[in-house]
Amino acid sequence: MTRKFSGDILLVATHNKGKLEEMVHLLEPFGVKVVGAGEMDLPEPEETEDTFVGNARIKAHAAAKATGLPALSDDSGITIDALDGAPGVYTADWAETGNGRDFMMAMTRAHNELEAKNADHPRLAQFRSTLVLAWPDGHDEAFEGIAPGHLTWPIRGKDGFGYDPMFVPEGYDITFAEMDRWEKNKISHRGLAVQKFVAACFG
Ligand code: IMP
Repeated sequence: MTRKFSGDILLVATHNKGKLEEMVHLLEPFGVKVVGAGEMDLPEPEETEDTFVGNARIKAHAAAKATGLPALSDDSGITIDALDGAPGVYTADWAETGNGRDFMMAMTRAHNELEAKNADHPRLAQFRSTLVLAWPDGHDEAFEGIAPGHLTWPIRGKDGFGYDPMFVPEGYDITFAEMDRWEKNKISHRGLAVQKFVAACFG
């Protein structure tokens, strides 16, 4: 049986501003105040697992242990069919410059690898999000959301974050970065995972 969340403050164990803004927006209707890991000065644990759920569990349990509060984490990324699922759990690593993250570099790498393989169009890809809600006593619950779509080049749009400007969700002809956030949240991997989390843990 799923354990319910009953507080009015939810600690979201992420330092990623884009993810946090989406979480605030997604959870607003349920009357919970979202606090980010940055505001609580929590360190970013190393993500040593090779699955989304494994890394999400590391982040959620580290935050719950450090604060004594239930903590929700998101581990997410993009899987590209013609690249055998890469970058997957290494989505953020592809943007790592050694001196911060550069998503233009990461998107260019994805495009160049597809070109080098002469990959067919549409270049199918999925954004994936796994949410884990962990309690200080070690209990946790996990929820997954998947947004299918394809990659486009050159990139389009100014909103969103990360790989949004190259991802066109299924059923649309605009990228996530061309959509308003409210519309993205309705169909995104993170939005779908939050819907499952809310249905299972609230009320
Ligand atoms: P992690 O979950 O912190 O390991 O990083 C996931 C990475 O996936 C982020 O740094 C983003 O680049 C990318 N990502 C996850 N969700 C989205 C999204 O909604 N739009 C664009 N990029 C995303």
